[in-house]
Amino acid sequence: MINAASIQEVMSRADIVDVLGQFIRLKKRGVNYIANCPFHNEKTPSFNVSPVKGIYKCFGCGKAGNVVTFIQEHEKLSYPEAIHWLADYYKITLVETERTPEQQQQQLASESLRILNEFAANYFLDVLLNTEEGQLVGLSYFKQRGFRKETIEKFRLGFNSEQQDAFYKAALKKGYKTELLEQSGLVKNRNGIVHDVYRGRVIFPIQGMTGRILGFGARLIKNNDKAPKYINSPENELYNKSKVLYGMYQSRQAIGKQDECFLVEGYTDVISLHQGGIENVVSSSGTSLTEDQLRLIGQLTKNLTILYDGDAAGIKAALRGLDMALSQSFNVKLVLLPTGEDPDSYIQKNGATVFHEYVKEHKQDVISFRLQIGLSDAGTDPVKRSKLVNEIAESISRINKAEDFSLQAHYIKEAAQKLNVDETGLVNLTNKFIRERVETENRHNRTQPDVVIPHEEILPINNEPIIETANKEEEQEWQLLRILIEYGHLEYEGAQKVAQLIEERVDPSLIEQPLINKLYTEYYQHFQHFGATPELHYFINYPDSVIRNRLASLLLPEKEISPKWKDRYGIETLSEQMNYINDVNSSLDYFELKKILSMHDKLTQKIKEESDPAKLDLLLREHIKYKQLEREITQRHKPVVYKSNKINR
Ligand code: UTP
Ligand code: MN
Repeated sequence: MINAASIQEVMSRADIVDVLGQFIRLKKRGVNYIANCPFHNEKTPSFNVSPVKGIYKCFGCGKAGNVVTFIQEHEKLSYPEAIHWLADYYKITLVETERTPEQQQQQLASESLRILNEFAANYFLDVLLNTEEGQLVGLSYFKQRGFRKETIEKFRLGFNSEQQDAFYKAALKKGYKTELLEQSGLVKNRNGIVHDVYRGRVIFPIQGMTGRILGFGARLIKNNDKAPKYINSPENELYNKSKVLYGMYQSRQAIGKQDECFLVEGYTDVISLHQGGIENVVSSSGTSLTEDQLRLIGQLTKNLTILYDGDAAGIKAALRGLDMALSQSFNVKLVLLPTGEDPDSYIQKNGATVFHEYVKEHKQDVISFRLQIGLSDAGTDPVKRSKLVNEIAESISRINKAEDFSLQAHYIKEAAQKLNVDETGLVNLTNKFIRERVETENRHNRTQPDVVIPHEEILPINNEPIIETANKEEEQEWQLLRILIEYGHLEYEGAQKVAQLIEERVDPSLIEQPLINKLYTEYYQHFQHFGATPELHYFINYPDSVIRNRLASLLLPEKEISPKWKDRYGIETLSEQMNYINDVNSSLDYFELKKILSMHDKLTQKIKEESDPAKLDLLLREHIKYKQLEREITQRHKPVVYKSNKINR
């Protein structure tokens, strides 16, 4: 267990904009930041970050939380792992209380692959640099390929001996179990003899977005027809090749800064480009691009430039995944290198300046590329040409987003010219493909059963339903909670804290929503117990994700005053900071009025039942008093009264 003071220190140091900025491109929008949501696929940003409150919320998919939950969800880490991540990032030493043997066991099981990979990478680097075989075989191979020492260290490259089980023995000595070693793909059991899988190979660790080593690729030194050129880690709990891009860790910041990502084929292409000073580059490692990989890139930039060999295989590889990128609204460009060259060989020979010039001159958009390849392929064959027209229209139809409309028109014009067909005809053909896709999607959706699931079934919390679309009374109750969470610790007119004032003046039995009542009670329990109001993080970190998301929506409302308002009417976007007194007053008025109205109702009942004229007179006087109070509050705060008039009537 990490001790509480350590967690507190991490929380107070962690800056949400700084941390989230490591993974996504944040743009300033008023006092908040916005970005494309990393948790779902979208083209226009609905992911909001409030640096003031330290929370994020996506209005598209509903995901919300604070800096810790972000790391948890994004990096697929547990809560303590996320705290460790942040502590590493901010160079904070965590103080941990003793663990029980079971906890140790569990920790080992969940992180063991990762820890093993870390050990293995260090081992392979050590063998490369500090053993005779490593230097003679591995290091001289890297030297011959032009890799400098700092490049080797940046990518944590390594080497493993030709011996049968040098690594296996070292790992056993360190206490790693054979079973885990087999799972990682680093060793293999053949007829009862365990041997290293990567023997006499140079090794490329594959790192995730945060630098964790997820797996390895290991390359032969001498070309050999019998053995595969690269052996890669098998898929396991840690390594999922369709979700990883080689070089992402080293390149992510440059991709964001340049607002462009180069996609290359191989490990060595990424490494050589980095060494040449081009750092915005990743590789899909010989497989075709997946949707998950595109999403990773899409968090950093929408400008994707694919750099492949100019040979037939390179072209084929480049064409794969293109439609997917178009559908995800990427601005895709293609660069084919001269035949026989890959980015690695090209930059090693020519250097970065020539490389950049080449890229600039040979950048093609997808449709033009398709056209060029297709036209040279079809020649004058009318059947092939008509097939090409269809293919091009299909491709263009995938760019069917409103924001790309002008792009689509541009492509149609160009394609019509080059294919020598009528522009209107091509427009119609493109539209036909769009319609067909829409119809297919609709049909697909219709196969889903047409059942409306009641809220209770999807969101059970202690058997009490949460209804997202609150009515006005419920909204008032949520607002009371919001005021407590946001302003509870502030002073109210110099005398006491907002939390104390509300405790004195609000009757908790009037809070009708069970969930709000529960959270309200928790708030004051915390206040009593610790003598301080709970921090924002207490609620934003709420273990139940449904409650957490609801609270995040409450604390980060979708409708903020747009920045334009400030210029036009002089209204501050961050009005809440100055206006909290108004908010508090209006909430207090609401609950006071609610109280009066409920007493008023009881009184009316009594008046009906009372027969004694003297007592009736007293009751009527009381009734007038209530009416007066009601009017006072009504006049003090008109909008509140309008909302609450219907209560208990
Ligand atoms: P390449 O054959 O182009 O290799 O495969 P490369 O990266 O240019 O390597 P060098 O320059 O010859 O040393 C491209 C990528 O395909 C994957 C690897 O990720 C490689 O980097 N690949 C290739 C494999 O996974 N296994 C193989 O057997 C071959
Ligand atoms: Mn190569």
